[in-house]
Amino acid sequence: MTQPIVVLRPDEAGRVAMLHATGFADPWSPAAFRDLLSESTTLALGVERAGQLVAFVLVQTILGEADILTVATQPDFKRGGLARNLLQNLMSRLGERGISRITLDVAEDNMPARNLYDSLGFTEDGRRPGYYTTGRDIPVAAVLMSRSLAL
Ligand SMILES: CC(C)(COP(=O)(O)OP(=O)(O)OC[C@H]1O[C@@H](n2cnc3c(N)ncnc32)[C@H](O)[C@@H]1OP(=O)(O)O)[C@@H](O)C(=O)NCCC(=O)NCCS
Repeated sequence: MTQPIVVLRPDEAGRVAMLHATGFADPWSPAAFRDLLSESTTLALGVERAGQLVAFVLVQTILGEADILTVATQPDFKRGGLARNLLQNLMSRLGERGISRITLDVAEDNMPARNLYDSLGFTEDGRRPGYYTTGRDIPVAAVLMSRSLAL
């Protein structure tokens, strides 16, 4: 079933931070999310079920391009198509706003996310060796990816 997608506002920073913490070893604070969500260059979309935020994505736009800063799905709801649906909706909104390209970086060993981006047509632009260190014994490269949003 397609879930309604909502635009996330600064007063939702607390629950965004809680969801983010389920997916990352270096959780961002509610204050950091409040600051990000307050910026006019930020767009954050979420999916709710029974009033609970179960997936979200946050991008920043600059000079006609968008960069995905983070995306996460609550563990109990993973593999239900929520992240794909959110990203498709996001790309469509960005395209309508005249954004021509979307970029991201992803840890080389994060196969769920890399498969997700591959399936949405992102391609690799390069790598930053040893970029990810938090929560790891051995640093892992960042894979830089992007996709055109041309209509
Ligand atoms: C990556 C993440 C956001 C995917 O969310 P999701 O809602 O489970 O993803 P979807 O159900 O929309 O999956 C879409 C596609 O992604 C890929 N994928 C998702 N989870 C996967 C897994 N565990 N293993 C392999 N491929 C996976 C598949 O190609 C999948 O399509 P399919 O189910 O038709 O095979 C989620 O695993 C997550 O929150 N991870 C922790 C945070 C994170 O790593 N964020 C990305 C940082 S760059």
